[in-house]
Amino acid sequence: MMKMFRTMAALLILLALLALGGTAGHHMTTTDAFCSSCHAYEKVSWDQGQHPEVGCLDCHTGGFMRDKVQGARKMFLVFTGQRDPHHDRLPSYPEKTQANCKGCHLTETAAVHQPFFLARHEGYMAATGSCMACHESGHVAAVREQRHGRR
Ligand code: HEC
Ligand code: HEC
Ligand code: HEC
Ligand code: HEC
Repeated sequence: MMKMFRTMAALLILLALLALGGTAGHHMTTTDAFCSSCHAYEKVSWDQGQHPEVGCLDCHTGGFMRDKVQGARKMFLVFTGQRDPHHDRLPSYPEKTQANCKGCHLTETAAVHQPFFLARHEGYMAATGSCMACHESGHVAAVREQRHGRR
């Protein structure tokens, strides 16, 4: 019974993915609302952070192909009951996000307009290797820990 359910679910996902293949599907699956449908806790810690106006994917993208493959994989895990994004502790890869932090903040414009800021930050990064050693990420740490405390 369970096995049949899984096969059905997998088929449904495949169909859904095919349907989402077009431009409209791409648009829908890149919105903050879509991400938040599975990541409600992260939405709250993001709303209260320093980046409520920066979209989820602006920080979390790993490039178009990786996003699509990882997205399909996550859908599969959820619909086959292997992961519950609201209750399971999710993997976290701050280092993957960091390239995008740099892309917005340690820019050529900054090099021109804030040379000291940039020079200091080269030193900071050499010492710690992580933006999050000194700054909050896209999520307020206290709220993030609460979410993790649940399990
Ligand atoms: C269908 C539910 C679902 C949707 C929609 C969803 N996720 Fe996830 N997400 C998951 C699951 C499940 C995991 C844990 C995957 C694992 O255990 O490997 C996860 C893990 C993550 C992680 C941590 C692991 C990593 O790859 O860095 C991030 C960040 C993340 N999701 C961001 C997003 C963003 C951004 C969106 C919107 C574009 C999104 N998610 C949409 C279910 C979902
Ligand atoms: C899409 C671009 C973008 C990305 C990606 C991004 N930020 Fe930001 N960040 C902003 C904007 C916009 C603001 C708010 C306006 C401002 O104060 O510059 C901001 C504000 C900040 C501030 C507060 C600055 C202040 O003056 O109070 C810090 C610190 C910061 N970001 C660090 C990070 C870190 C760490 C990451 C990666 C986890 C990151 N940012 C990713 C655009 C971005
Ligand atoms: C060792 C601690 C440390 C690390 C690591 C660090 N920062 Fe900072 N950051 C600071 C301090 C201190 C300031 C305030 C004054 C300054 O520029 O040194 C600051 C200021 C900022 C600001 C505000 C600049 C402004 O215009 O006022 C942003 C944005 C920022 N950092 C982003 C980042 C990003 C992105 C990373 C990772 C690539 C990072 N920081 C790594 C300590 C750090
Ligand atoms: C400014 C960058 C930034 C934005 C915007 C952002 N995140 Fe994150 N997110 C991070 C970083 C960095 C981590 C790694 C953990 C940490 O340091 O807080 C993370 C971790 C996560 C995780 C893994 C679970 C965890 O607690 O580590 C998920 C899921 C996630 N974010 C989803 C989202 C969703 C959904 C949105 C939009 C509603 C979003 N993020 C917006 C930077 C961001």
